[in-house]
Amino acid sequence: MIEIKNLCKRFGQKEILRGINLNINEGATTVIFGMSGSGKSTIIKHIVGLLQPDSGEITLDGKKITGLEGEEQLELRKKIGFLFQSGALFDSMNVYENIAFPLREHTDMDEESIKKEVYAALEMVALEPERVSKLYPDELSGGMRKRAGLARTIILKPKIMLYDEPTTGLDPIISDQISQMIIKLQKELKITSILISHDIKEAFKCADYAAMLYEGKIIESSDTESFKNSDNAVIQSFLEGREIAS
Ligand SMILES: Nc1ncnc2c1ncn2[C@@H]1O[C@H](COP(=O)(O)OP(=O)(O)OP(=O)(O)O)[C@@H](O)[C@H]1O
Ligand SMILES: [Mg+2]
Repeated sequence: MIEIKNLCKRFGQKEILRGINLNINEGATTVIFGMSGSGKSTIIKHIVGLLQPDSGEITLDGKKITGLEGEEQLELRKKIGFLFQSGALFDSMNVYENIAFPLREHTDMDEESIKKEVYAALEMVALEPERVSKLYPDELSGGMRKRAGLARTIILKPKIMLYDEPTTGLDPIISDQISQMIIKLQKELKITSILISHDIKEAFKCADYAAMLYEGKIIESSDTESFKNSDNAVIQSFLEGREIAS
């Protein structure tokens, strides 16, 4: 469905992506693993068009999505939900207004329909609409904030979801709730998902496929079972939490 072909990106002297090749399967969840600073967020930012490659391209259903501008770029952004590493709610708006925001920006729905959609999105991420709507982001726990961010991301019913470190910094119980949420969204809305994670245990709960980014390339990409059994030394070290010699 999504094909990343020979994607290259450098920042100044630093070559971060050195020819990334990766296929993302429709309706499934693919996790991309890699060490801190290896370029995982950079890959995701290319998919949503926040960054443009130096060379290479990304296609969605065979259509090139790198290098889009204006209206075409906006249309693409509506299809792709992006849960930022930081959660990214607007601090000055309450939860209801945060979640309604994309609807107000991209549709001309009346208030009654907006309320219905916002409440449905909150229920989807297991937040109680009546109680949570009026709260401001700084009144939410870390896990609630992530879930509210997720509700805002799914409100436009994206076909594709990108999750950048959705469980990092959350306790194990909340992390599990977020993982269950990702699984539920994939099952109920048939969303194609790309997950970026350091959290190996949580990632394997959600993912059907796994890929490893190392020194600017995807060194392995397979279903999670084969991935776990890979005899690649870098992957084994990563999975066992050992330092990777380079
Ligand atoms: N806009 C930018 N300008 C300059 N350098 C950048 C930019 N974005 C990322 N980098 C650099 O590219 C490298 C990869 O960054 P990226 O955020 O993709 O890593 P990551 O794998 O997501 O790391 P983490 O696991 O810590 O989130 C880092 O060295 C970072 O400093
Ligand atoms: Mg990152």
